[in-house]
Amino acid sequence: MVRPLEHDPKPLLAALRGEPTARRPVWIMRQAGRYLPEYREFRKSHSFKALSGDAELAAEVTLMPLRRFELDAAIVFADIMSPMPALGIDFDFDPGPVVADPIRDRRGVERLRRPNPDPDAVAPEVMTALRITRGELPENVALLGFCGAPWTLAAYLVEGRGVKDFPTLRAFAAERPELLDALLSRLSDLMGRYLIAQAEAGADAVQIFDSWAGLLSLADWQKLIKPHLQSLLETVGAAGIPRIMFVQNAPHLIDAYAKLPAEAIATDWRMDLGQLQSRYPERAVQGNIDPAVLLAGPEATAERTRHLLDSVAPDGHIVNLGHGILPTTPVASVEALIEAVHGEVRLDIAAGRA
Ligand code: CP3
Repeated sequence: MVRPLEHDPKPLLAALRGEPTARRPVWIMRQAGRYLPEYREFRKSHSFKALSGDAELAAEVTLMPLRRFELDAAIVFADIMSPMPALGIDFDFDPGPVVADPIRDRRGVERLRRPNPDPDAVAPEVMTALRITRGELPENVALLGFCGAPWTLAAYLVEGRGVKDFPTLRAFAAERPELLDALLSRLSDLMGRYLIAQAEAGADAVQIFDSWAGLLSLADWQKLIKPHLQSLLETVGAAGIPRIMFVQNAPHLIDAYAKLPAEAIATDWRMDLGQLQSRYPERAVQGNIDPAVLLAGPEATAERTRHLLDSVAPDGHIVNLGHGILPTTPVASVEALIEAVHGEVRLDIAAGRA
């Protein structure tokens, strides 16, 4: 059957509704970062904190990949830790987040600051960067806001920095589940307000990054993590904001994540995205090329991309990597990925146009 072309000028938003698009939308996680020569040039004179803390510079970096590639979304240049000053948390980057005084006891949770009720007060520089970026983007490019999921944020707040398997965090979850619950609840409330403020500042949709989702068993996830993630997603959904739920390295949790209230589920490269799509036809899917494949060069990248296009049905598929792009990625591989997506001929839609 011939299906009509969508009329939304932003293909990414149409895909989030599961509607057909002339071609699949594509963007790349961490697309503004370190693999771009013009970004590395900027970094010679500014630290990451200085860049993301200055709205003008952050907007400029956000737009860098859009100037080079035909991408369907811009993602605001910030970090999952950017809203943490609203809770009074002191941290730095080396190169990942390092928290000065990690949360390990009741005092740590109780000393968290009650955030200012003004919606723009959570990371005001991110709100300004979104407003500037919005004004510069063409009509067909979606602007994405984002945040860390409560558990992934708690991982840094409790462990103090990113370490393999986060043992201090897992011990905290086992020893002080009531404190973890209180911490996740504070984070979930703050992220709900933060995402709504980002939408008010111009974000068309938001992505929630649960990069460290897979650390606990399904049973512990259901008990400790899920209620807070569910309430965050419901808050954002009630405000009418389309949601992309990204989950990394958690094959044992994938069905639980796919059942959460979100328009799209985004996964890493370990999952078969086509199979996930068949199991949850009501969800859009995003992903999921292995970022390491791009290191193998443009030909390998184009081949993998075509394979992905063959194995995932086009409607409701947003092409992306399965995790952030790696610093040593050749720009030519990014070009090859986007060209392969643009080269796909949608016979059903072409027939509808003829
Ligand atoms: O990668 C993911 O899993 C996505 C979620 C996530 C982000 N930051 C989003 C982000 C996570 C887990 C972090 C923590 C973090 N922060 C790390 C990971 C490694 C660790 O040690 O735990 C790092 C290296 C940082 C610091 C950071 N964030 C730098 C130096 C940069 C600049 C660009 C770069 O990639 O080098 C960022 C930017 C950043 N972090 C973005 C996002 C969505 C910006 C958007 C973009 O680059 O497109």
